[in-house]
Parts: sequence; C-alpha cells; structure tokens
Amino acid sequence: MHSGRSRAGSAAGGVHRLAPHARYPVVALWLALAALGCRTKTVAELPNNQSATDAEWAKRDAWQRPVEVMDTLGIRAGSVVADVGAGGGYFTFQLAARVGPHGKVYAQDIVDSHLEKIRDRAKQEGLLQVETILGSQSDPRLPPGALDAILLVMTYHEMENYDAMLDGMARGLKPAGRLAVIDPQGTPNQPRSSYAKEHKMSKELVLQDAARHNLRIVREAKGFDSDENTHLFFLIFEKPTAGDASRNGQ
Ligand SMILES: C[S@@+](CC[C@H](N)C(=O)[O-])C[C@H]1O[C@@H](n2cnc3c(N)ncnc32)[C@H](O)[C@@H]1O
Repeated sequence: MHSGRSRAGSAAGGVHRLAPHARYPVVALWLALAALGCRTKTVAELPNNQSATDAEWAKRDAWQRPVEVMDTLGIRAGSVVADVGAGGGYFTFQLAARVGPHGKVYAQDIVDSHLEKIRDRAKQEGLLQVETILGSQSDPRLPPGALDAILLVMTYHEMENYDAMLDGMARGLKPAGRLAVIDPQGTPNQPRSSYAKEHKMSKELVLQDAARHNLRIVREAKGFDSDENTHLFFLIFEKPTAGDASRNGQ
C-alpha cells in the first residue's frame, strides 16, 4: 500500500481517459460507488498487488484533480481541515499528505464503519494528523472555530438536514475559513427530494442554502467530468470575518 503522500504527488496533472470498464455500465457503476466509499467493497487482489481501493483511487485522480482542489482552497502544511462525509477517505488521505504532521484532518461521517477503515489506514501509514468524527444527520460535531477549510464532496445531496449541517459547518470554520461543495450537477428546479434519489444536486439550491447560513460565495471553480454523463460543480464559500460583518453594518 502506498502512502497518502505519494498518492497526492502522483495526482498532479492527471489526464482523463475513458477506462475500458466504462463500456460496461453495470461494472462501471459498481466500481464508481465502491470508489466513493458509499458501498461495501469486496477486496480484490490486482495483478500489481495494489489494493482495490488504491486502484479505484488512482482512477479517480485522473478526473478529480485533488491537488488543484486543495490549492484552490489554500490548504497548506499546518492547515486544519475537515473532510465532511469522508466515505472511503479519498480526500482524507490527500489532505493528510498536504497538511503534514503539524496539520490536522478531521475525517467526518455518519457511518462509523467508513471511519473505522480510515482509522485503520491512517494507523498503518502513521498519519497521526488524521482524526475521525462520528457526526449525525443534524450535527457534524466539528470543533468550533477551528477549521481553515471544509471539503464536502458528493455528500451535499445525501444530507437530510442541510440547514443544521450548514449551520454546524459554518460554526466549525475560522473567520475567512472556506467551504468547498463538490456535487454531481442535477437538473435545476426539481423537487428537493428528487436530488437525493438521483445522487445529484442543484447548484442553485446550494447557493440559496449557503446564503441563509451567512456563507459568502467566493466563486465557482472549474468543475469535473467523472464520466461522459456526470458533471460535478465546484462551489467555494467563505465564512465572513468580524471586519466583513462591521463593514456590512451587522
Ligand atoms: C457518495 S459518499 C462520498 C464520500 C467521499 N466524500 C468521497 O468523495 O469519496 C457520501 C458520504 O456522505 C456520508 N453522509 C451522508 N449524510 C451525511 C451527513 N449528514 N453528515 C456526514 N456525512 C454524511 C455517507 O455516509 C457517505 O459516506
């Protein structure tokens, strides 16, 4: 098993290529869900002795551009960050490599079996900067005012209580801390319940939700195409500073 550090290094400058399995939709869907840590995986031994997770994550590096995502959020050595809805931990280990031993990565999820796998891998790789947090649907249980950045990747559409979750994430951020929301783009103006079923989200709803929780949109960055049918948007929000609030007469 290679380390998080080497994974992040190899991710730079990835080029999208259509994998052979993409021609077989059922296999492609199974692999995609397994890669997200949203479904139980069977561990397959691959010819090059990579674990199934490593092989799936290597494929994901090609379209997810994790180095660019972390650069966009200003994450660096010593940063304190959270991967909310961490799942299998794809971003947790990218983040751990970036923040290094003097930083901190909170891998947060509502499913403890996902967190257990992350704890095991972090222990195996000696990544003491990784800590897991078991949240609930209405409280991410993040440390208050502690975070430079939060990543919420392919998780927004699954949140049942988005107002409470946004509230908890805003509380966890430091002033000027950033929240990245990356989610598969759904058709706009659908009933909210339909997005969870389709595992997609309306960008417009996310913008409205964040505004209610005093999270300022910084910009929409270049999104991602995970396959020929799925585009993921990438929104960056910021928690206002005390200075911003007084300038706005709050
Ligand atoms: C599709 S997976 C994405 C995993 C990971 N972010 C990634 O990019 O690979 C969605 C994850 O969100 C978690 N989740 C769903 N609702 C949540 C909530 N309210 N708070 C935290 N995690 C949640 C699920 O347990 C699952 O692990």
